[in-house]
Amino acid sequence: MHRKIIIAIDGHSSCGKSTLAKNIAKQLKYGYIDTGAMYRTVTLYAIRNKLITDDSIHEDALQAALNDINISFQYNEENQHNDTYLNGENVEEQIRTMEVSSRVSRVSALKFVRTAMVDQQRKMGTQKGIVMDGRDIGSVVFPNAELKVFLTANADVRAQRRYQELLGNGKEARLEEVKQNLLERDELDSNRKESPLVQAEDAVVLDNSYMTREEGAQWVVEKAQQIINQ
Ligand code: DC
Repeated sequence: MHRKIIIAIDGHSSCGKSTLAKNIAKQLKYGYIDTGAMYRTVTLYAIRNKLITDDSIHEDALQAALNDINISFQYNEENQHNDTYLNGENVEEQIRTMEVSSRVSRVSALKFVRTAMVDQQRKMGTQKGIVMDGRDIGSVVFPNAELKVFLTANADVRAQRRYQELLGNGKEARLEEVKQNLLERDELDSNRKESPLVQAEDAVVLDNSYMTREEGAQWVVEKAQQIINQ
C-alpha cells in the first residue's frame, strides 16, 4: 500500500495554481482544496453584510460573524468542479467577481480570519491524500507537507490567462484592469504582516509561463510519485 502525502501548491495570483492542483489531484485520485475560495467566501459575506467598504472593514463585527460563516465544498457532477458553499448556498460564481477579487486581499490579511481558515484547512488534511493550493500552505498550514511547489509565471502571461478566464465565463473585463488587480494583490499578499506569501525553503519552484497545463501537471506528478514510492 502506497503512503499518502500532502501536496502544497503556493504562488502568486493567477499563475494557474487551481488548474494545476486539480489536475494533479485527479491523476493521483487525491482530494483538492482551494483555500483562496475560502478567503473569497469570507469576503463575499463581508460585502453582503456591509462589513467592508472601499476604505474600511468592520473588524469586530466580522470577527463576531465568523462563527456564522460555514464554508464547505461539494463536487458538482455537471461541470466536474468542486463548488464552494456559504452556509449551504452555492457561491462559486459570486466569489469570482472583480468586486470580491478587489477586496479579498484586505480580508485575508486579517489575523483572526487567517487563524480560523488555517484551523479548518488543517482539519481537512488530517487523512492526507490531498492537494491544497494557496499562499501559505507550505509555510504555515502544512510546514511538514511531503511535497511543496512554489508556482510562478510572468505577470503578462498571468494577466492574459485571467482575462481569458473571465471572458470565457461571460464576465466583462479589461486586460489592463485585470493586470493591475493582480499586481496589487501580489504586492499585498507578499507584504502583509500575517503569513505573507513566501517561498518555503524546501519548496521546488515551477515557472509555468511557457508550459502547457499538462506539462506542468506531469512535472509535479512525477515528483509526487517519487516521494510516494520511496
Ligand atoms: O488564489 P485566489 O486568487 O483565489 O486567492 C484569493 C485571495 O486570497 C488572494 O488575494 C490571497 C488570499 N489567499 C491567502 O491569503 N492565503 C491563501 N492560502 C489563499 C488565498
